Amino acid sequence: MITETVDRRTVRSALELACRAPSVHNSQPWRWRIGDRSVHLLADLRRWLPATDPDGRDLVLSCGAALHHLRVALAASGLRATVHRLTDPDEPDHLAAVELAPGVAPEADVALAAAITRRRSDRRGFSSWEVPEAMLAELTAVAAHQGAVLTPVTDGAALRRAVAAAAAAQDRTPGYATETTVWTGRRTGADGIPAANLLRGPGAVTGGRFATGTIDRSTGVRDGALLAVLGTASDDTLSQLRAGEALSAVTLHATTLGLASCPLTQVLEVDATRRSLRDDVLGGAMSPQVVLRLGWGPQEALPPTPRRRLQDVVEPFPDR
Ligand SMILES: Cc1cc2nc3c(=O)[nH]c(=O)nc-3n(C[C@H](O)[C@H](O)[C@H](O)COP(=O)(O)O)c2cc1C
Repeated sequence: MITETVDRRTVRSALELACRAPSVHNSQPWRWRIGDRSVHLLADLRRWLPATDPDGRDLVLSCGAALHHLRVALAASGLRATVHRLTDPDEPDHLAAVELAPGVAPEADVALAAAITRRRSDRRGFSSWEVPEAMLAELTAVAAHQGAVLTPVTDGAALRRAVAAAAAAQDRTPGYATETTVWTGRRTGADGIPAANLLRGPGAVTGGRFATGTIDRSTGVRDGALLAVLGTASDDTLSQLRAGEALSAVTLHATTLGLASCPLTQVLEVDATRRSLRDDVLGGAMSPQVVLRLGWGPQEALPPTPRRRLQDVVEPFPDR
């Protein structure tokens, strides 16, 4: 078990922050196992959404985001984390082992950790201000540091066509409508997307992906949001995990810059439209993993989405 050298309470607080990570439909498809000076991340396949996410990409991306949140939270509290990813082919749900040792908290990680509780997936209309080139360059460097490429989408119309085609394909997928109803537009519960975080009508790029929410979308101005794709050189599980880490790194960094963000994955959940995004929009140069919408959101903060209790996702639970 974790000994005096690595304080249990510190690990518990870091896990609380890790669980604030974004996840597809707020499904939180992760489990944590605490070992001897280590924390292990496991995929929770009981929380997989097979109609929405047939190849499990969103599930692995979500776990990658939680892994990066954990790395940031540990670093900010002065713990050095060495991560070993996908080490055991006999246990494919075991996504990462994080070895812990005493360290020094870098200032950059303290700022990122502070952004964890402020970040939201923001589906509202953004202001007409564009994301400055210098900020885009910073976000691109942050993605590269996690092994991913951030590429702005220049052909927005082609992306919107692909999203519409994905939505039409999903409408024909058995079980898809049920998953959407069960997981989105919630009024209570520790998971799923609350109505308070969803738009009343169709969104600019989200279309009718979700159940009806309570947010009025229009800002009455042209939306200057930047659409950018996070991609990787390959498309295996390791690449998807790293892309999830990059998703976390980019959205947390964006939060420190005052930018709003929202991951968009519908177009990537359908084989044909994922290929079309890769070949028609990105010139075939990389495997797209997630589209990000970035920009200047409204002043009013969105409410936080709920999370499952830590004791339901951590074993053994560090109660002291
Ligand atoms: C892999 C992944 C896919 C997602 N796909 C979408 C999407 O297509 N559209 C959307 O509006 N939000 C999407 N989200 C955002 C989640 O709905 C959101 O993270 C979750 O509801 C928790 O809320 P929060 O991010 O505000 O904490 C996605 C998040 C992840 C990690």
